[in-house]
Amino acid sequence: MALRLGDIAPNFSANTTEGTIDFHQWLGDSWGVLFSHPADFTPVCTTELGTVARIKKEFEARNVKVIAVSVDPIESHQGWIKDINETQACTMNFPVIADEKRVVATAYDMIHPNADDKATVRSVFVIGPDKKIKLTLTYPASTGRNFLEILRVIDSLQLTAKHKVATPADWQHGKDCIVSPSVSDADAEKLFPKGFRKVKPYLRYTPQPNL
Ligand code: BEZ
Repeated sequence: MALRLGDIAPNFSANTTEGTIDFHQWLGDSWGVLFSHPADFTPVCTTELGTVARIKKEFEARNVKVIAVSVDPIESHQGWIKDINETQACTMNFPVIADEKRVVATAYDMIHPNADDKATVRSVFVIGPDKKIKLTLTYPASTGRNFLEILRVIDSLQLTAKHKVATPADWQHGKDCIVSPSVSDADAEKLFPKGFRKVKPYLRYTPQPNL
């Protein structure tokens, strides 16, 4: 069955370009992003891995570890990494899982047979420090992901895990947030000392509370 938000991210042991890992141990107390690729030596995947390598500091600043997975073998990954470094103005700096036996792909339901019966789709799982799945995304092979959007949702996930707010459409770090519907006006006054703006009884904005 497909994994759902709030489920425990399945643990696994895997061979990666940075050695063997136990996934949960490797995550430790960090947040995690696990993302899959259809295949090595393919153009869109090459740009995606290069993009993540270039912005890895942004993930680290948010206490997030990133790890990629594809069903090709480790020797293939090693050769492909040379191409990624050569063509994407980066030095690869995070592990890529060699999931030849499709252990990870199966556990995370990354093969969608009606799209392709062998290759993984472009899945993204954001995992919290409690090892629970906080966000899933699924893109087809033909569409590269927007990793700035993934950083943006991580900002929202981390903020809303600590404060009784939600984030509106197209929210960016620093912009006003929405007071959670479960919070009464009286409680909102105590919780949000910067105040809140009531547009409708169910639509109340407050400045981002952790700034
Ligand atoms: C790519 O990464 O470029 C790609 C992979 C599989 C199908 C189409 C594109």
